[in-house]
Amino acid sequence: MRLLTSTLTPTILLCLLITTLPRPSIGDDTLTSAQSLDDDDDGKTLISAGGSFALGFFSPTGTDNRYVGIWYNKISVCTAVWVANRLRPLTNRHGSLKLLANGTLEVTDENSTVLWSSTSSAAVRNPVAQLLDDGNLVVRSAADDESNASFAWQSFDYPTDSLLPGMKVGWNLTTGFNRQLSSWTSTIDPAPGDFTLGIDLEGDPQLLEWSSFSSEQGTKQPKWRGGPWNGLGFSGIPQMQSYNMFSLRFTADDQEVVYWFEMLDPTFVSRLVVNQSGALRRVVWVENDRLWNPIWESPVDWCDDEISPCGQNGVCDAESSLRCACVTGFRPANPTSWNLRDGTDGCARKTALDCKNGTDGFFLLRGVKLPDTSRSTVDWSTTVSAGQCRARCLGDCSCTAYAQANISGRGSGCITWTGNLTDLRLYGNGGQELYVRLAAADLRECSLA
Ligand SMILES: *[C@@H]1O[C@H](CO)[C@@H](O)[C@H](O)[C@H]1NC(C)=O
Ligand SMILES: *[C@@H]1O[C@H](CO)[C@@H](O)[C@H](O)[C@H]1NC(C)=O
Ligand SMILES: *[C@@H]1O[C@H](CO)[C@@H](O)[C@H](O)[C@H]1NC(C)=O
Ligand SMILES: *[C@@H]1O[C@H](CO)[C@@H](O)[C@H](O)[C@H]1NC(C)=O
Ligand SMILES: *[C@@H]1O[C@H](CO)[C@@H](O)[C@H](O)[C@H]1NC(C)=O
Ligand SMILES: *[C@@H]1O[C@H](CO)[C@@H](O)[C@H](O)[C@H]1NC(C)=O
Ligand SMILES: *[C@@H]1O[C@H](CO)[C@@H](O)[C@H](O)[C@H]1NC(C)=O
Ligand SMILES: *[C@@H]1O[C@H](CO)[C@@H](O)[C@H](O)[C@H]1NC(C)=O
Repeated sequence: MRLLTSTLTPTILLCLLITTLPRPSIGDDTLTSAQSLDDDDDGKTLISAGGSFALGFFSPTGTDNRYVGIWYNKISVCTAVWVANRLRPLTNRHGSLKLLANGTLEVTDENSTVLWSSTSSAAVRNPVAQLLDDGNLVVRSAADDESNASFAWQSFDYPTDSLLPGMKVGWNLTTGFNRQLSSWTSTIDPAPGDFTLGIDLEGDPQLLEWSSFSSEQGTKQPKWRGGPWNGLGFSGIPQMQSYNMFSLRFTADDQEVVYWFEMLDPTFVSRLVVNQSGALRRVVWVENDRLWNPIWESPVDWCDDEISPCGQNGVCDAESSLRCACVTGFRPANPTSWNLRDGTDGCARKTALDCKNGTDGFFLLRGVKLPDTSRSTVDWSTTVSAGQCRARCLGDCSCTAYAQANISGRGSGCITWTGNLTDLRLYGNGGQELYVRLAAADLRECSLA
């Protein structure tokens, strides 16, 4: 296991969020519709069967507001991973969590005002709410046992800022239901903040982080692009290819487009979290040091601070003092601003493509983050070879680049792009191969260079 050394301050702050450590609890993981979990009942909590997670009332440091949340029960520094009443906190300790007879969960105040409720689509007869040992709070029928039950509702479907093992981010395509992470507003306020992380379905689906910060009317702008799945990880997170403590999963079929992960060694505790300033981190708990150690975070460098800092057909290279370069066969679209280190106007083709004569070819870029795939088409068939993918691109006059969709094993599948290529970057380590279509004249030039 490779851990980065890190500055510890932010994680420790995060972990001190919960001032009021709940007392040891009744040791039960289930709430029936006859019971309620009351805040003034002296720190009563639900504890999952294996003791990994606890559910109860808590206050973040710096506020007396009360929230119902789920936190790690075995970790000495308390860390909330899920919050129910994010938008409407309680202002005193007279709140309660109840399970209604039809299976709806409610957080209410002393006057029975409902501050939060779960949105089960189907009523359950004789329901129970159970905190499972993976941190998922589920509502099911008491007649089922937890292994075979279909859940009427589960907290894993309504993520806060943390992705836990087994929890999915992405879409149920049948129902259009979408699961996204959203940051806290501030260290004292778990209300949804400016940053969300989810899967964008346009073109070849991509992991995207959006920001509502500095944009009008709360509209969300893409902030960071994790890129498309490449069989080993997301194209924009080359580190994923070398993770050996996780099993990383991605499914894109006609039922769902989702990413999730499992721990290969269950003694490791890890989560993916999007923080208040929009940083995305994968952290692992290190008990000896009592801290959450980041093993990866984004942004790491200038190339990830905004989307496409080098414009269309530009390539960002964080290790070069020039930062931006044009893809071979392209030149700066606006040389003046380009020379002033403003790459946003990007690069234009030197020689127009010559599709009809069939003289175009491809220039190979190695070690890159694939460009924005929202204007791309993907074919995941394992039978499509690199040669077939090339022929497919050549045969389509609007195709400007291609790459293998799946770089696992010997490589398979095919992504073809149309239009200009944006948000391309180089990686010193990892990254994948991209074939950029050029006119014959520009290909000659690069073989001379
Ligand atoms: C509950 O109702 C009482 C009486 O109207 C009121 O004084 C109190 O502030 C209410 N509590 C909350 C949390 O709104
Ligand atoms: C369950 O009961 C509550 C309170 O009467 C109601 O608001 C909610 O819609 C009901 N849920 C279902 C699934 O019927
Ligand atoms: C689950 O198993 C229990 C007993 O093992 C059974 O009574 C129940 O009907 C099963 N439920 C489903 C949905 O299969
Ligand atoms: C999508 O949601 C429906 C309704 O809740 C459910 O029956 C179905 O199993 C879900 N699909 C997947 C792939 O989870
Ligand atoms: C979010 O994480 C980044 C990277 O670790 C850190 O620099 C920043 O201070 C964090 N923001 C907050 C509000 O904790
Ligand atoms: C095809 O190639 C010839 C010779 O290079 C060139 O003169 C002609 O303009 C090309 N045709 C098209 C449609 O680009
Ligand atoms: C990618 O290729 C590997 C090796 O051939 C294969 O096991 C895997 O199922 C492929 N992934 C997808 C999503 O098709
Ligand atoms: C690509 O960029 C050029 C300017 O460099 C522009 O003229 C052209 O319309 C763009 N193509 C597409 C498909 O957006």
